[in-house]
Amino acid sequence: MKNKPIPEEIVNRVWSESGIKSIETASIREVKKLINDIEKASGKKFVRMEMGIPGLPACQIGVDAQINALNNGVAALYPDIEGIPELKQETSKFVKNFLDLNVSPASCIPTVGSMMGGMAGFMTFVRANKERDTTLFIDPGFPVQKQQHRVLGLKYETFDVYNYRQDKLKDKLESYLSKGNIHTIMYSNPNNPSWICFTEKELQIIGEMANKYGVFVFEDLAYFGMDFRNDISQPGRPPFQPTVGKYTDNFALLISSSKAFSYAGERIGMLILSDKLFNDQYPDLVPYFNTPLLGKAIIFGAVYAISSGTSHSAQYALAAILKACNDGTYNFLDEVSIYGKKAQMMKKMFLDSGFQLVYDKDDDKDLADGFYFTISYPGLSGEELLKELLYYGISAISLTITGSEHTEGLRACVSLVPMEQLPELEERLKSFRENHKD
Ligand SMILES: Cc1ncc(COP(=O)(O)O)c(C=O)c1O
Repeated sequence: MKNKPIPEEIVNRVWSESGIKSIETASIREVKKLINDIEKASGKKFVRMEMGIPGLPACQIGVDAQINALNNGVAALYPDIEGIPELKQETSKFVKNFLDLNVSPASCIPTVGSMMGGMAGFMTFVRANKERDTTLFIDPGFPVQKQQHRVLGLKYETFDVYNYRQDKLKDKLESYLSKGNIHTIMYSNPNNPSWICFTEKELQIIGEMANKYGVFVFEDLAYFGMDFRNDISQPGRPPFQPTVGKYTDNFALLISSSKAFSYAGERIGMLILSDKLFNDQYPDLVPYFNTPLLGKAIIFGAVYAISSGTSHSAQYALAAILKACNDGTYNFLDEVSIYGKKAQMMKKMFLDSGFQLVYDKDDDKDLADGFYFTISYPGLSGEELLKELLYYGISAISLTITGSEHTEGLRACVSLVPMEQLPELEERLKSFRENHKD
C-alpha cells in the first residue's frame, strides 16, 4: 500500500464531527465546508474540484466601470426595476452578435445573478397557465434550481438525457409534454455538470416540441461560448453560440456574468425573453401579477417582489463589458480558454490512472474540454469514490445530486485548480491507482 497523502484518522474525525451523513447527497456548500475543515486539521492543501467558482480575476473593464458608477453616486439611488437603458441596449446587441437572435432591449432584464433570473422565471411561468404546474428538467442539472422549486413549493419532473441523445430525445420529451402539465423545459448548455453540449439537431427537437405543446424553454447559458470546439468569439460573425432560439419563439435565456466575465461576486446576470414571450398575454397571470403580459409580470411582479431590481453599479459594469464584447475590443473567450486547457490535462491524468469518463460524447464527437468533466472508477460507487478521494486530498461532488442516473459518477470542476498544482494531482492520482489495482 502506498501512503495516503491525508491521514485517515484526520479525515474520519473531521467527517464525523461535520454531521454529514452521506457525502453522496451532501450539498456543494456542505462538501466545501468539510474540505475546508480537513485542510485546516491536516495542514494539507486539497486539489479542490467541488465548487464551480471562477478561478480568474474579474474582468477589469467591469471593475473600472463599476467604480466610476459608484463615484458618480449611483449607490444612493434605486435602479429602475427593468434595468438601466445602457445595459438593456448592450445585451440586445450581444444577443444579436453572439447568438444571432433579434431581441429588443425591453426584453432584456438584469437580475441578481442567473440564480435570480431562474427564480423570477419559474415563479412567473408556473402561473401563466392554470393547467400547467410542472417544470421539466433535462438533467443532469444544476442542483440549486431544484432547490428553488422546493422552497417555492413548485413541482418538477426530470430525466437523465444520457440515454436520450439525438433522435431519441423527441419521443422522450413527447412522453412528458403530451401529459399537458409541463409549463417549462429547463436545461443548461454547455451542461453543468456533465459538459455535454446539445447538437443543433437536439436544439431543433427541443424547439419543435416547445412549439407543438406550447411550453416555455428556459435555456441557461451560464457557460456562454465555452464549448471551445467552436470559436464563437467574433461579434456578428458565425459560428454563434448554439441556442434553441433558432427553433422556437417560446424561449427565455439566462446569461450569467459569473463564469464568462469572472464577475460572480457582484451577482449580476441577464434574463432575456423572446419579444414574442415578452408581449404575450396570459389571463391566468392576472390574479398574481395584476397584468396578463408575461414581460410585465416578470419585471413588475417577480423581480420587484424578490429584490426590487439589480445592483445599480453592477449594471454599469456589465453594460461596459458587453459593450467591449460587442465592439470587438474585448475577447472574453481568450480569458476563459484556460479552463479548456486545464480540463484537457486533468482529464488525461484521471484517464491514465484508470478512471473513466461518465458523459463522454456529443453525437459522434468527444465532449469539449471546459469547466467540468465527469469521472468514475471501476468497482467503486460514487459515494465510495468521493470518500476515498478525500484521503488523497482530492475533492469533487457526486452526480447523484444533479439528477444523473450515474450514481457511480463524480463531477470535477477545473476552475479552482491552479496549473502549478497539476503535478501534485498527478502524484496523488498515481498513489490512488497503486492502492486500487483491483
Ligand atoms: C448552470 C448554472 N446556472 C446558473 C448558475 C448561477 O449563475 P449566477 O452566478 O449568475 O447566479 C450556475 C453557477 O454555477 C450554473 O452552473
